[in-house]
Amino acid sequence: MTPPAVPPPAASPASRTASSLPAAATVAAPPAAPGPGPSARPPGSTTATASANGAVSLPASGRDARDGGGSHPSAPVLLAVQNLWKIYARHDRRIDVHDPEAVERAEARGAVVAVRDVSFRVRRGEIFVVMGLSGSGKSTLVRCLLRLVEPTAGRILVDGDDVTAMDDRQLTAFRRTKVAMVFQHYGLLPHCTVLENVAFGLRLRGEPRPVQLQRAREALARVGLEKWAGRYPAALSGGMRQRVGIARALARDADLLLMDEPFSGLDPLIRRELQDELLRLQAELHKTIVFITHDLQEALRLGDRLAIMQAGRIVQVGRPREIIQHPADDYVRRFVQDVREAAALAAGPLRAAAPEPVPAKGGTGLVP
Ligand SMILES: Nc1ncnc2c1ncn2[C@@H]1O[C@H](COP(=O)(O)OP(=O)(O)OP(=O)(O)O)[C@@H](O)[C@H]1O
Ligand SMILES: [Mg+2]
Repeated sequence: MTPPAVPPPAASPASRTASSLPAAATVAAPPAAPGPGPSARPPGSTTATASANGAVSLPASGRDARDGGGSHPSAPVLLAVQNLWKIYARHDRRIDVHDPEAVERAEARGAVVAVRDVSFRVRRGEIFVVMGLSGSGKSTLVRCLLRLVEPTAGRILVDGDDVTAMDDRQLTAFRRTKVAMVFQHYGLLPHCTVLENVAFGLRLRGEPRPVQLQRAREALARVGLEKWAGRYPAALSGGMRQRVGIARALARDADLLLMDEPFSGLDPLIRRELQDELLRLQAELHKTIVFITHDLQEALRLGDRLAIMQAGRIVQVGRPREIIQHPADDYVRRFVQDVREAAALAAGPLRAAAPEPVPAKGGTGLVP
């Protein structure tokens, strides 16, 4: 597999306007009531600063700033991923992933190691963001979590249940009750109304019809689309369709929400609005969310913790400010360069010339 290219160097700070400072360095304004169109809500504008010794200091992220932040560090673990591998190859399960030479031989024969020995844990109520460049393995990882892609090796535990050991019947029940996924391209059924789309998962689960409809209506109301219940997806804008996708996931009332680049492809204003909306919903519903993005600003706004993926590996896990202040390696450092430059810029020309902060010793922040 060809490793993904590193991100290009960031534009010079001097070429950026205040309004283009990374959203990571801002605090979200409290979201207003949801609605189908763009709102007039101004984004927050608190910028990052750099201290006299050059250490980058960031204001609280969108998550940090909300009441109570994300989940409590002692909240129970809902999702545990242990030494997960996915190798795209014929008979991949025959490859001994514990033997580096066997993995190399498979790669030489054309196998793609999309997920390479990945471990992490996500606590209840947490938004865990997986970020990485295109091809780094994010979608493969998130699809492995509900076995839409079969892992090559490793274990996945959700609420103590071993997903990797489930038979077909158990897996179907797991997918219908415990987990919901929101895709980038909505995945709406074009010939069903918005209400039917939202009720779809409940129908599959065999819920009584009145329960299906009531839950679907409630979920639509949560995303501000109750008036659109009788319309068809074609009548909706991209942002509204993605709200329907979110409503559909919420209606299932699953503990674990998996979101694979749900807001990519939407224009920046709508994207930001949906981010706000997700944060508002999360403050009410306390879901456990694995959110995939390749957008640092989105990652920093939404994530309680971030995992940075490179070529199938997780190279760093940590809270947003830890990652910005102490990037584990040059790859992560290049990712967060924009935010660090914004911090230096905010502190003025003298501060901008201050030395780099010393990276944290020994730790990627990986959860053991
Ligand atoms: N079905 C498949 N068969 C073979 N290789 C695959 C398959 N799906 C993905 N890959 C490869 O696995 C690697 C990881 O792909 P994946 O789609 O997980 O990356 P990603 O981080 O989600 O990228 P993007 O940001 O573009 O969505 C890539 O090299 C990709 O080409
Ligand atoms: Mg992807």
